[in-house]
Parts: sequence; C-alpha cells; structure tokens
Amino acid sequence: MVISPTTLFTGQQLIWLPACPSTNSEAQQLLRENRASEGCTVITDDQFAGRGQRGNQWLAAPGENLTLSIVWLPTFLEASQQFLLSQAVALGAYDWAAALLQPAGELKLKWPNDVYFGTQKLGGILIENSLNGAKIQSSIVGIGLNVNQRHFAVPTATSLGMLTGRYFQRELLAARLLEYLERRYLQLRAGQVSQLRRDYLAALYRYQETHDYEVAGRRVRGQIVGVEPDGRLAVAINGQVERFGLQEIKYV
Ligand code: BTN
Repeated sequence: MVISPTTLFTGQQLIWLPACPSTNSEAQQLLRENRASEGCTVITDDQFAGRGQRGNQWLAAPGENLTLSIVWLPTFLEASQQFLLSQAVALGAYDWAAALLQPAGELKLKWPNDVYFGTQKLGGILIENSLNGAKIQSSIVGIGLNVNQRHFAVPTATSLGMLTGRYFQRELLAARLLEYLERRYLQLRAGQVSQLRRDYLAALYRYQETHDYEVAGRRVRGQIVGVEPDGRLAVAINGQVERFGLQEIKYV
C-alpha cells in the first residue's frame, strides 16, 4: 500500500508488509542491518505475534487496525530522559485521535502511554530504546491503534469505529498519524519540554481525581499529582506523595 505523509522524514522510508510477527521486531532487524534511515516506518496488515508492555501480547484483527513501528534516532536525549520520548509519542497519538473524535472530551492518556477513551483502551505504545553509554542511540516506536475492529476479547477495548459508527480508511489514517507523531517529535527535538509536559498532564487520565489503586497487594485511595522526570507516577496517598514504577501500581 502507498501512503504519502507530509513529513520531513517520518514514513518517508515506508515498508508495508502483508503480515509479520511484530513490526517492532522487523524495524529492529532493519536497524541492525543498517537498512533503516531515520523515520523508517514498518506497517503491517496482519501482526500475528504483536508485543505489548509488561511482556503482554498485543492482539489486532488482521486488516482492521493500525500496527506500525517507527525508527527514530533521538541521540539528543540522555538515557535518563527516555520518558520524554514516551510523552511525545503518546501526545502524537492523542492529537491524531482527537482530530478524529469530535468532541474528544473523554479522550485521555493513561500513564504511561495508553490512549484511552473513557475507561476503554483505544491504543497502546511500546518503545524499545538502544543506549550508547548515557545516551539514547536509537528508538523503535511501536504503536497499535484500534481502528475498524468491532469485537474484542475484552470489554475494556474500543476502536474508532465503535466510538463513531464510521468506517475508516487506514492508509489515510496512517499518513495523518505519522504527521502528528513527527510534529511532537520535532517539538521534543527543539527542546520544548515544558510544553510537552503541560500537554501530557492536561490529557492525563485521572489526573488530580480521587480513585482507588492497588499498591503491593493493598488497596489505597489517592490522587495522581504528577509524573517524575524518570517516568514514575506521583500519587498523593493520605497526604503523602508516593512514586511508582510501571509494575508497582495497578489502577482499580
Ligand atoms: C501496550 O499497550 O501494551 C503496547 C502495545 C504496543 C503494540 C504495538 S503494535 C505495533 C508494534 N509492534 C509490536 O509488536 N508492538 C507494537
């Protein structure tokens, strides 16, 4: 399939595969073989062994969704700044979805980088970075977005089609997505970090609301009050701010 995103480099080298196990793995291989220029994008119609966060699988019905990976070279970032890239990518996906879902009021980013509508997941992001000492050398930015799929194994998933009752042409959506993502990546590259941070918090699911969480096997009540530079979630629990990594807190 052919798409022509209006970007400087993202998706200018584009590989659209009928099927593959995981676009992240394909992109990784291209990078290893020195065949990927910055922005190289791998998309597939049928990702049959997709990988998600926390070692989970990412399931996507063939031909109905967007599953793609971008190779970027954010060598301007320190290894300790990896969460900035995660924020920028999440915002790119958010901007893309917001343009398609009007009104987009219930569209949120669930920490660290899930795209949610209400309490349902519309998409997920898996970024795999290679480090060179204290710097990032390369990043594989994998994104899965539910587009036309109407039936999911879990009730917590949704799609653009389910939310709007419309059918979407994936080629067009893919081109727009690459544009929104590149815009946020360029913002990051230009050092506009406080703007990214502000936009991320403005889109953050449950930000400053009181909800239940599970921490070390016990149920607590707290408010998300921010995200640390290293990506840990800051939650106020009984008047005390505690910070959690990905495996350390569960949303209830
Ligand atoms: C998550 O929410 O757990 C992250 C899901 C990331 C899925 C995408 S689909 C394209 C890319 N290739 C993969 O194997 N995973 C990512």
